[in-house]
Amino acid sequence: MKTTKRFFIGYATRQGQTAAIASHVALRLRARGHFVLLQDIASAPSWLDPLHGCDAVFLAASIHKRRHEPEMVEFVRQNLEIIAAWPSAFISVSLTQMMAERQSATADERAIAHRDVQAMTDQFIHDTGRHPGIVRAAAAAVAHSRYSIAEHWAVTRLLGERERISDPSRDHVYTSWPSMDALADDLEARTSCCAAARRVRAFCPTCFRARIPGAIAPF
Ligand SMILES: Cc1cc2nc3c(=O)[nH]c(=O)nc-3n(C[C@H](O)[C@H](O)[C@H](O)COP(=O)(O)O)c2cc1C
Repeated sequence: MKTTKRFFIGYATRQGQTAAIASHVALRLRARGHFVLLQDIASAPSWLDPLHGCDAVFLAASIHKRRHEPEMVEFVRQNLEIIAAWPSAFISVSLTQMMAERQSATADERAIAHRDVQAMTDQFIHDTGRHPGIVRAAAAAVAHSRYSIAEHWAVTRLLGERERISDPSRDHVYTSWPSMDALADDLEARTSCCAAARRVRAFCPTCFRARIPGAIAPF
């Protein structure tokens, strides 16, 4: 029998693409009958304890100037114990990942971009101390309509000559939505075993993860 799970989806965004990704994942999970709390981490009220009672945590943050948004780093630091105790996913959203996925790039260019994404994600894990659940990178967007002049030049410089965006009169979205669907499904699948053990056991009998933050697995 399919049971309703509770997902917390938190995102950190500047120009809106990460919010779009978080909303997309929320829609998918809601369509499957789950309860989803969708929250912009930057505007989360201080009294909110969003992770209380959730079955899984989905977090997404974009990269600006080679760093993930600081509010997400702070949020993960503060909630590390509970995030590590439940199935979780973290999505890193960047244009470097777009370059890593670009078919027109050479194998070398893709490898360099891939290494760069890995380095920025490693930095996030280092800064937060987060035990990684599912960690993925997603290609971002070029949002000309939302950039200031300074942001426009920052993105032009980042993309360089080869990746220059052909039509600056519109926004360009590079996120692979099927990949985001697959990720939501993966996270949903990981909640199945733990949800059954939720209130009655300290450990999930299927995946052996501790169900009570701080509990030490007996094996
Ligand atoms: C000022 C600025 C700096 C950026 N710096 C980086 C960067 O260092 N590395 C990168 O891969 N992408 C960088 N980007 C691209 C963003 O990650 C991309 O536009 C993403 O869609 C932003 O996500 P958001 O819309 O959720 O804020 C930068 C974008 C801007 C506007």
